Amino acid sequence: MPSLALDRRKALIGVTAALVVPQVVVAQAALIVTPGQTEGPFYPVTLPTDRDADLVRVQGQAAQAVGHITHVSGRVVDKRGEIVRGAMVEIWQCDANGVYSHPGDSGQRRRDAAFQGYGRTNVDGGGRYAFRTIRPVAYPGRTPHIHFKVHAPGAGVLTTQMYVEGEAQNQRDGVLRGIRDVRARQSVIVRLDPAGDIEPGSLKGTFDIVLNL
Ligand SMILES: [Fe+2]
Repeated sequence: MPSLALDRRKALIGVTAALVVPQVVVAQAALIVTPGQTEGPFYPVTLPTDRDADLVRVQGQAAQAVGHITHVSGRVVDKRGEIVRGAMVEIWQCDANGVYSHPGDSGQRRRDAAFQGYGRTNVDGGGRYAFRTIRPVAYPGRTPHIHFKVHAPGAGVLTTQMYVEGEAQNQRDGVLRGIRDVRARQSVIVRLDPAGDIEPGSLKGTFDIVLNL
C-alpha cells in the first residue's frame, strides 16, 4: 500500500506539472506578427545629413526640436520571440507643426528646422533599438503616428506605423482601421508613460516589432 507521504508527493508533482505545463505552452506560442502598413507619401526623398537616432537635435544647430520629447524603444524579434540579429530600424514622422521634411508636403515654410524628421539605428546585441524623438502629432486626415521600416538580413523589409494609445482619432484613422485583426491592430498601438527616469519631462513607449520569421 502506498504511504500517505508518497501520495502527498504524487499530489505535489501533479500540482507542479499543472503549473508548469501551461507556461511552457505560452512560451512556445507564436507572437502576433507586426502588421505591415503603407509607407505613405513622405518617406524622405534625400536622407538628412544627420540621420542618427536622436531626432530632437540636429547636428550643428543650437535649437532643440519643438514638441514633447519621447523615447521610443523596443526589440526586433521573430515569431518565437528570438531576437533578430543585425536588424536596422528607420523612423520618420512630421514635426510638431504637422509638417514632414518632404517637398510633397505643402507646409515647408512652417517646418521646424530643428527637428530631424528621420532617423535610423542598428539593433544592439540584445535586439534592441531606441530613438529619442517627439510625441507624434496629428495632421489633417491622420491620427498621430510614427512611420517605421525594419530591415532584417535575409528577411526583407517590414514597413509599418506606430500609434499612441488613447488618441481619440485612432477610432477614425483609415490606415489604422485597415488592420482588420483586432490583436494585430492593438500590437501597433503603444502606451506612452512619463519617463522622468530617462529625461525630465519626457515620455517613453515600447514598440516591439515581430517579424514574420
Ligand atoms: Fe504619416
